[in-house]
Amino acid sequence: WKILRLSEVDSTNEYAKGLIPDAPEGTVVVAKRQTAGRGRKGRSWASPKGGLWMSVLLKPPKIDPRLVFVGALAVADTLGDFGIEAWIKWPNDVWVGNRKISGVLTEVKRGYVIMGIGLNVNNEIPEELEGSATSMRDILGRSVGIEEVLKRLLEHLGRWYKTFLENPYLVVEEIRKRTILIGKEVRVLRDDNDLVGRIINISDDGSLLLDVDGQTVKVVYGDVSVR
Ligand code: BTN
Repeated sequence: WKILRLSEVDSTNEYAKGLIPDAPEGTVVVAKRQTAGRGRKGRSWASPKGGLWMSVLLKPPKIDPRLVFVGALAVADTLGDFGIEAWIKWPNDVWVGNRKISGVLTEVKRGYVIMGIGLNVNNEIPEELEGSATSMRDILGRSVGIEEVLKRLLEHLGRWYKTFLENPYLVVEEIRKRTILIGKEVRVLRDDNDLVGRIINISDDGSLLLDVDGQTVKVVYGDVSVR
């Protein structure tokens, strides 16, 4: 990994994008604070000081939506190192209990994948998210060394990325084990039409298999919420 550290930036994903095509695979951009952090679907992502806001440039042999799982698994394992049990909400969220602690945003540019990871470490959770988001500090009752978190996260990321390159099914298999919503009735929010059904499984290609009124529907994107 080649780590670039910034004190403030609009979005580490944007910054990392600007390094393409000169930056090598494995370039990491970390910022103390983002002024325009972004989440999926154009949502904003609160990124005050104290959190881990970073983007990694990867150059996989081909673009594969399952790559987002690599980020989620790495975050979950990092939390595990600190004694925090996390689960993954398909496709890109990491939750602890009923609160979100981290999100992964992958974007594609010129054969590169920009993998942005936001992890609430010691940062304050904005008031409007208090019931739905949490941080490592909130859970552990103490501040955590952000450098240690970054180090662990990059180790796990390297390991899961290697596994992904060798056999992406192993990554999907692990995601299945950590998705507590399999078998649950959910609503999948989508731009065009919402879907309501029961999660049957996550298919080998990474999509969600949903039972909607007895029909199996394959869902490639959307936000899952429990009914
Ligand atoms: C989501 O859950 O919607 C994804 C959130 C991703 C946030 C991270 S923070 C670092 C990187 N830079 C951004 O602007 N977004 C990602």
